[in-house]
Amino acid sequence: MVPRYPDVQFWNLDQLTYAGNLLNLSSIEHAENYTFIHSDITDLDKLNSLFEAHDFTTVIHFAAESHVDRSILGPVVFAETNTVGTLKLLEAARRHWGASASNFTDGSRRFYHVSTDEVYGSLSEEGYFTEQTPYDPRSPYSASKAASDHFVRAYYHTYKLPFVISNCSNNYGPYQFPEKLIPLVILNAIQGKPIPIYGKGENVRDWLHVGDHCEAIDTILRYASTGHTYNIGGGNEHSNLELVGMLLDEVDKARGQEAGHSRSLITFVTDRPGHDFRYAMDYSLLNKDLGWEPAYSLAEGLQDTVLWYLNNQKWLEAVADQSYREYYTRQYASR
Ligand code: DAU
Repeated sequence: MVPRYPDVQFWNLDQLTYAGNLLNLSSIEHAENYTFIHSDITDLDKLNSLFEAHDFTTVIHFAAESHVDRSILGPVVFAETNTVGTLKLLEAARRHWGASASNFTDGSRRFYHVSTDEVYGSLSEEGYFTEQTPYDPRSPYSASKAASDHFVRAYYHTYKLPFVISNCSNNYGPYQFPEKLIPLVILNAIQGKPIPIYGKGENVRDWLHVGDHCEAIDTILRYASTGHTYNIGGGNEHSNLELVGMLLDEVDKARGQEAGHSRSLITFVTDRPGHDFRYAMDYSLLNKDLGWEPAYSLAEGLQDTVLWYLNNQKWLEAVADQSYREYYTRQYASR
């Protein structure tokens, strides 16, 4: 596969924790302008030496512990990776780029921080999150991401470190680890296992295909002004029960089963503690300023995703390994 920007050198730093997987990158691993670095963003000495060696001009910071349920089971690593890890990346960038004050003002450097709509808290049935919504994180995960956003802005105000931030709604699509709702439902449906719906399945999420998220990041990275934040959303709000129903119908269709077959697997289980009721993004600023809008409809996106998982069952088997099964038991056995 030829990367979109053949003249740009990419270094991909990843710790390869349980959700990281080199199989996900096999299509680009031999590209001439791509290098993989197995490391940890909390290792500041390593970050400093990498900045020194490669003179990075841009950081796109995706690295995070991202699963809310895991943050409830074990919150500390969320603060370590998401908050302290972000701080160390900022620090490495500041030390290296700050050697020349013009690096902070001439637009030649950029720190792009990828964040989440969960920093804004939880909505009732009305209203949307805008870029002005006050932060109100309510899970250890969202608290760690909110803290990281604050550090990024603090580095701008204090040191003039040039940043952009985007806060995005729920992603879905190929390669997503099956702890998240959509791949978990597809995996369980394939295996004929119960499909756990928290509470009554009334909580609402705004779904965005990962390809649309990547396009939004590319647009913001290239065209947003320094110091700006943009919301990214799908405009696809559904209760979990509605969404899972649509998804299971797609699975049945793709497997040639009669409609409604997999819906019988739906099982209501004890709710997530502190479960945020609704997220919904107003992304009109991104649309107005930079012209971005999602390309996938939810129907197309779900179909694409179901087919990807059905066609990549080896990948699914590889990631749903012993440690995944242990997590699954810990998370679901007593619900
Ligand atoms: O909103 C953006 C966020 O979306 C990201 O920042 C997070 O990294 C990402 O994990 C996601 O958070 P959610 O908690 O909304 O995603 P999750 O897939 O875990 O759950 C989606 C909804 O489905 C949520 O209301 C909980 C519910 N759920 C989830 C699982 C895993 C169930 O009912 N059953 C389940 O087994």
